[in-house]
Amino acid sequence: MEKYIDAAVEQFKTLLTEQIAREKKMEEDKCVTDYEKLDKIIIGICGGDGIGPIISAESERLLEFLLKDEIAAGKIELRTIEGLTIENRIAHGKAIPDDVLAQIKACNVILKAPTTTLKGGTLESANVAMRRELDLFANVRPVCVPDENIDWAFFRENTEGEYVLGSRGVEIPDTLCFDFKVTTKEGTKRIARAAFEYARKNGKTNVAIVTKANIMKKTDGMFSELCHEVAKDYPEITAEDWYIDIMTANLVNERVRSKFQVFVLPNLYGDIITDEAAQIQGGVGTAGSANIGDKYAMFEAIHGSAPRMIEEGRGKYANPTSMFKATEMMLSHIGFKEKADKLGKALKICTEEQPKYKITGRADGATCSEFGDYLMETISNL
Ligand code: IPM
Ligand code: MG
Repeated sequence: MEKYIDAAVEQFKTLLTEQIAREKKMEEDKCVTDYEKLDKIIIGICGGDGIGPIISAESERLLEFLLKDEIAAGKIELRTIEGLTIENRIAHGKAIPDDVLAQIKACNVILKAPTTTLKGGTLESANVAMRRELDLFANVRPVCVPDENIDWAFFRENTEGEYVLGSRGVEIPDTLCFDFKVTTKEGTKRIARAAFEYARKNGKTNVAIVTKANIMKKTDGMFSELCHEVAKDYPEITAEDWYIDIMTANLVNERVRSKFQVFVLPNLYGDIITDEAAQIQGGVGTAGSANIGDKYAMFEAIHGSAPRMIEEGRGKYANPTSMFKATEMMLSHIGFKEKADKLGKALKICTEEQPKYKITGRADGATCSEFGDYLMETISNL
């Protein structure tokens, strides 16, 4: 037992040193990309696993269509990034093999299809690794249900909490396991700032700070405190504390849910509650997710790689809507707001207002590429 305890103490020391250094680096590193000033924006497209290559190919086609002139003029380059597959990642024993990471870092922005995340073992999730490597600290997930007056924006902290050391916990065999949750001052302030800035720019009056600070006293306690500190710079916005458990209930409470506007929350709570919110909107397949950092940004579908669809030979019926939403968010982020709005409008028509095709995930529905054609045709007719 002694030897396990000694090893764990040693490991904890290493982790603590690393995390302190990470916090310091955050304070120092402030390299912000201004997409308007770039001569050329390189968009990297990662195909991922399962239905990933199918839905990302459709997004690539959509981007070629929407950015035809910019691509021809050399202002935009679409670059396919190979190798972010579970097979290649296992072969290299790395969440993102070095050469793949180098390809990713040579782009300005990434559109990423779902990648398989293994349960247990030590291979880290590619999402988590990419968020960390590119320092994509804000996970922004909008959810809208106009008929019910729901217009939510979730600002999920994306680089810390339970995730940052999620693959580096401690195990005393046959006895116990320990995982770590990390909240830093800079890490919290920057996500809080992002949420309040968004609220201000979009005329929102309320930000809900969602934690479990009554139980996670250190990490969530500091998260809440720092959010309130940032809130002082935004006197026109009300900052309210909520606990994650009751907020989860509130989202399904039709009497109160429409009053919420912007949410800021630590990583794991944000992960869980945004799936719930997406389900209220119509399912995880309907939501896109933006992972924003100062230098890089990555946009992705909110759902997984659906290996079952591939096993059952239904891959071509995969629903690309979530990737299209991610594409819309990406276009807006890199300065093509008008094109993004057009895409958003067409997506609405194709999925809600007068859908000519329905995607069911099976042979009784449209295929992924039929739906892509339909969307592009709708955009042309706008
Ligand atoms: C998400 C996903 C990821 C997460 C998984 C795939 C690692 O659920 O983007 O919400 O937990 O963050
Ligand atoms: Mg999730």
